[in-house]
Amino acid sequence: MAAAVVPTTFKNFINGEWLDSHSGCTFENRNPADTSELLGIFPRSDAGDVHAAVESARAAYNTWRLVPAPKRAEILFRAAEILVRRKEDLARTMTTEMGKVLAETRGDVQEAIDMTYYMAGEGRRLFGQTTPSELPSKMAMSVRQPLGACALITPWNFPMAIPAWKMMPALVAGNTVVLKPAEDTPISATLLFEILTEAGIPPGVINLVHGMGPEAGAPLVAGDGVAAVSFTGSTETGRAVSLACARDFKPCHLEMGGKNAMIVMADANLDLALDGAVWGAFGTTGQRCTATSRILVQKHIYDDFRDRLAERAKALRVGNGLEASTEVGPLINEAQLQKVMEYVQIGRNEGAKIASGGSRLQKAAFANGWFHEPTIFADCAPGMRIAREEIFGPVVALIPFGALDEALEIANGVVYGLSASIYTRDVNQALRAARDLQTGIVYVNAPTIGAETHLPFGGTKQTGNGHREAGSAALDFYTEWKTIYMDYSDRLQRAQIDT
Ligand code: UN1
Repeated sequence: MAAAVVPTTFKNFINGEWLDSHSGCTFENRNPADTSELLGIFPRSDAGDVHAAVESARAAYNTWRLVPAPKRAEILFRAAEILVRRKEDLARTMTTEMGKVLAETRGDVQEAIDMTYYMAGEGRRLFGQTTPSELPSKMAMSVRQPLGACALITPWNFPMAIPAWKMMPALVAGNTVVLKPAEDTPISATLLFEILTEAGIPPGVINLVHGMGPEAGAPLVAGDGVAAVSFTGSTETGRAVSLACARDFKPCHLEMGGKNAMIVMADANLDLALDGAVWGAFGTTGQRCTATSRILVQKHIYDDFRDRLAERAKALRVGNGLEASTEVGPLINEAQLQKVMEYVQIGRNEGAKIASGGSRLQKAAFANGWFHEPTIFADCAPGMRIAREEIFGPVVALIPFGALDEALEIANGVVYGLSASIYTRDVNQALRAARDLQTGIVYVNAPTIGAETHLPFGGTKQTGNGHREAGSAALDFYTEWKTIYMDYSDRLQRAQIDT
């Protein structure tokens, strides 16, 4: 497969300039479908580079916060137009960089486009409240204020969408940003920065620092000048981010793991449920925090559903995501593949039955990539580790159940709470599930993936820490309320006393 990207040396972007790391250290970025393909060399940044980026964002904040929001929004609108124009080449580069199939990287760019247009629209809203005062000749209002320089740390599975989810609301609200993208997808982030710069974002407003979590991410989160942190990634790292922020009472938004359940009731349209299961479990090679990683199937249809799902999984074409016929791409890197293989072994040891897949793919076309078969574990007990822990790969656990109450209990019986779904034709069951599933997102007759950008996105329990991104909810994190009272009575009026 021809390289979509010529290997080149990439840089950090600080105060409008493309810079090497001050130490001169670098790291490589390779194609996960064919690791012989070197895509680029990136600066391996440390606390010094991070400090320069934060100082740049802090300085730019003084002027950016005063640019009228509709003007900030116009820049975002122009960026969205460029994203639309470049969608295809961005998608191809992203597939080369992180492996998911072209249709999905196109979707990733589209999600960035949607968020960018949406937040451009918010520039003319950003509404607060005006309300009568309890005192005469006095008015009261609330306005949204930006926070300052925001630190954003993003994962590799949605390399353009998630940086856009964080940057666009931050920017339209008047914040400046420092982004540390995942070291597996630095090119996608670089392209987004090029586009925002072309659209007219002033120097210093957006800053990009490449590197590893402990060396670049940690000092960024701890940075003195950082006003707020938004992190998407593992629960383990999220806990460290949260603790680091707690020391200085820094607002912190966390978006972490999932173990998302699909419930299939016996009355469901089974063909539809099978389509949803295949897409939810194996789309993006299972590497979504929203991935369908447990399928709870009502007992009377369980055997039939298991056999049909296994047949569908076996027929999936695994390969390089740039090839039109490929349905499932590689895992992102060796560590992720190892993790999947370990969990497959754990599942076997726990006594779950493999209904399809179960092995790494290594022959011929797969020799240089991180490929694994789509894998179904059947007859899982809810307490098994493969049915409770996030695997982040093409592995799904099938769990039989009797009645809806039992399914809800199993679905809710994990530490995560991002997304859940129910397939049924019975409106009462659907509404009960929508009420009682303890997740931030619930789907009826659709799989657990596929959130849209104008609605809140996030989860309960150990998936998040109470904040949401996307939709107007994102603005609740990237702004804080200021209440302004204006007394035009020309005399002292004492609230609660001069009644
Ligand atoms: C993620 O997996 O981190 O809802 C984000 C979805 C996508 C976003 C997933 N729109 O599956």
